[in-house]
Amino acid sequence: MTITMKKSKIGILTGGGDCAGLNPAIKWVVKTALDERLEWERGVQYEVLGIREGWRGLLNVDLISSPDIRGYLEPLSQEMVRTWDRYGGTFLGTSRTNPYDPKNDQSKKVLDNIGKLGLDVVIAIGGEDTLGVAHKLSKDGANVIGIPKTIDKDLPETDYTLGFETSLNVITEEVDRLRTTAGSHKRIFVVETMGRHAGWLALEGGEASGAYIILIPEYDFAIERVGELLLEGRREGSRYDIILVAEGAKPTGGVEFVKESGVDSFGHKALGGIGEFLAREITSHTNLEVRSVTLSHLQRGGAPCAYDRRMGRYFGIAAVDLVERRDFGKMVCYQNGLISAVPLEKVIGRPSLVDIATQYDIERYNGRRTILADEEKAKESAR
Ligand code: F6P
Repeated sequence: MTITMKKSKIGILTGGGDCAGLNPAIKWVVKTALDERLEWERGVQYEVLGIREGWRGLLNVDLISSPDIRGYLEPLSQEMVRTWDRYGGTFLGTSRTNPYDPKNDQSKKVLDNIGKLGLDVVIAIGGEDTLGVAHKLSKDGANVIGIPKTIDKDLPETDYTLGFETSLNVITEEVDRLRTTAGSHKRIFVVETMGRHAGWLALEGGEASGAYIILIPEYDFAIERVGELLLEGRREGSRYDIILVAEGAKPTGGVEFVKESGVDSFGHKALGGIGEFLAREITSHTNLEVRSVTLSHLQRGGAPCAYDRRMGRYFGIAAVDLVERRDFGKMVCYQNGLISAVPLEKVIGRPSLVDIATQYDIERYNGRRTILADEEKAKESAR
């Protein structure tokens, strides 16, 4: 007698800005879903279909006439993904395509293609934009599960988003490199980080690398105060200084620096330029010699650090657990040391930002100098 096992097809895609940690998550979705031992326990046989280029893949794949179906679809096997956790970026490719773009809503086509491809569930690995689309698709009837990734770490309901720690390592390494040249020339270096409207990369990158001044979007800085701090440092004997500034930071009364006009299909402006502006302003206020460096996409590059490999693994495994439970419309998350899951609706539209009251020193423009004593302040700011 042959026993026929239930079959189920999982689609997986990566959307938004790439980063380290995506490939480990894909690998562990595939390995967990295709694990033969678990297959028998679950009584379901999964297939995993990689979808290339994020939502663009699900939108453009033309199942009837197009010769380039293979361009957007890639059936994934355990053998294929065996080494993927060692590599940065995403082997599935990515895009910032928004099927719900108000100027051209193509969500019906995506829903249609999910049906035509026979996908039981789509696992979307992404940040606010990608998971926002996942949430809308889920409201429109599709089975979706989210995995959080963004070097900006600005998603709520999770203490970790894939890519963040690898980026912090890049920032720390680059600052270490700058220190030798800054010291030799007695210069100030302004280092601009990514992060959009959230200061986590600059703040935690600055804390890890020991920056003298850290400027973040959550607190507008006074250029005069930056100058004062630098001169004070010189009086106390410092030969050089490192300033970390988030791309979304701005001076009091100013606006965010924008690189190009226009917005992407999710309505985002491309931020950038605050570092150069700050360098010029510091020279004019202090007469000190300043250089600026924009770390830009270096922060998204390179092999995943150990933490991103581990977290990618745990998130990937947890996503398959949700599939097995048919607990859809959720994002896997990391909260208080535990991997769990939250409804996607709780994740959308409320970015996680630095709490100035407990996590930032507004006098020194730096990380906090008290930690346990902050408990009271945290309670107050939550009230
Ligand atoms: O969302 C992640 C992010 O890295 C932001 O910090 C940054 O503003 C943006 O992506 C840059 O994106 P792009 O790849 O479109 O230049």
